Amino acid sequence: MRKKKASSVALKILMAGTGILLVLFLFAHMAGNLKIFVGAAAFDHYGHWLRDLGAPLLPRTGFLWLQRAGLTVAVLAHIFAAVVLARRARAARPVRYAHRPKVQGSYAARTMRWGGVIILLFVVFHILDLTTGTVNPIGDREHPFANVVAGFAPSRWYVTLFYVLSIVAVGFHLRHGIFSALRTLGQQSPRGERRAQAVALVLSVVLVAGYLSVPFAVLTGLVK
Ligand code: HEM
Repeated sequence: MRKKKASSVALKILMAGTGILLVLFLFAHMAGNLKIFVGAAAFDHYGHWLRDLGAPLLPRTGFLWLQRAGLTVAVLAHIFAAVVLARRARAARPVRYAHRPKVQGSYAARTMRWGGVIILLFVVFHILDLTTGTVNPIGDREHPFANVVAGFAPSRWYVTLFYVLSIVAVGFHLRHGIFSALRTLGQQSPRGERRAQAVALVLSVVLVAGYLSVPFAVLTGLVK
């Protein structure tokens, strides 16, 4: 018997659903990060609260681990659906056009792929920087404010540059991703598509601005 394949529509819904979960995390994380403008005590308190969330029903850091498991599953499913859909799209286009510039038509797909890889590398570095503290000059789990300020110190401009480039990559990825998710989930009329484009642009710009504000605030001495 032939092995049953997941339909492309199901894979697209999986991509859209996991993408939306990741965007929700990004908004929650950005809101938490903006607490840095309230002050060191507020930011550290928020960090501790994250670990205590769900207690006493859950053990300490229980919620954090559930969130980590959920994010890992969502990222893996998102990548799995992306790879299978990209392979199917390639298989459906039997012969390459002889005289067409390579990037035409597939520009969004290319930036999505490399954007995704950059984001993945960024997340690995970011966890080593601000969660485990391995590559952070302070790396004190109890004091996330101090870690952030030390991490974006002017002398570590190359780290800040990497963050900025990665966050811009997140922005591009989201602009196309949110639009695609909205289209998958039903905004298919021309008016709906225009609205989906606008929503995707606004949400991406808000996220990029929110995330970038933290390293820039440290760099300019507004947060110290
Ligand atoms: C400049 C922007 C950012 C700042 C200042 C920042 C700050 C932080 C801090 C302080 C933590 C550790 C929280 C703690 O353990 O108390 C953290 C964890 C994390 N951040 Fe960010 N973050 C930024 C951008 C991002 C972006 C763009 C992503 C995703 C693409 C991201 C994903 C994560 C993840 C997955 C964790 C691990 C959460 C865990 O411990 O399970 N962050 N971030």
